[in-house]
Amino acid sequence: MQQLLAPIEQFLACSTPERWIDKAKQNESLTTLLIDHCNCELKAAQTAMFLVRKYAVDKASGEQLLQWAKPFEDFVYKKDRDIEAFLNRDVKKNDLIGELVCKPGFAHGADLVDKMVRLIKEEFHHFEQVLAIMHQRGIVYENRRAGRYAKGLMRQVRTHEPATLVDKLIVGAFIEARSCERFAKLAPYLDDELNRFYVSLLRSEARHYQDYLTLAENIANADISERVAHFAAIEAELISSEDSDFQFHSGAPAQ
Ligand SMILES: [Fe+2]
Ligand SMILES: [Fe+2]
Repeated sequence: MQQLLAPIEQFLACSTPERWIDKAKQNESLTTLLIDHCNCELKAAQTAMFLVRKYAVDKASGEQLLQWAKPFEDFVYKKDRDIEAFLNRDVKKNDLIGELVCKPGFAHGADLVDKMVRLIKEEFHHFEQVLAIMHQRGIVYENRRAGRYAKGLMRQVRTHEPATLVDKLIVGAFIEARSCERFAKLAPYLDDELNRFYVSLLRSEARHYQDYLTLAENIANADISERVAHFAAIEAELISSEDSDFQFHSGAPAQ
């Protein structure tokens, strides 16, 4: 576990404040965190899918991706959600993604598709895993309003290509890295089932961080360390400054 975490701790400019961990480990915080975590898994899949559709694949493949997301989006955006029906749905019929065709003119399209399709698959699976744990514990899924974290990072994304894509990939790397760091920090305080689950997530989230960063480097085809340092400072400020919200990616809880 330390081996997985070392590069992530180096990448992030600060570690999670003790105050956030103190609040997170209280019993009454668990429901909030699980619901927010569940939301985040789906958002992670949707964000990656947006990038693939916008930059890498042709129109028919874009449609195929939307079909893949449909059962998940129907579930979360529907008023009366039937968790059992969703979790027991005919996965083979709905969720298999076929061969995707890259649109011409983007040299890194195939690499983006490869890495992001794997990531999307895993995030969808994580979403279902969190949902199943919540269901077992009688916690009801709800859509949560996004906090300041992702918005605060996205606000810094440059508005011309390929800088926009490079910045979005760097932001993806930070969100994945922070998630990984928080799973590791929280795990020791959780019950056995959640502890095992959060530790099991570390490996894939660490790879997601690495995949985003590698894509950013390859697509920029230049040194991105200055941009990485810029986002590291913004991210650290969002994580360490006081935050009136309490969520999975929130800052230090108000005293
Ligand atoms: Fe995930
Ligand atoms: Fe992830």
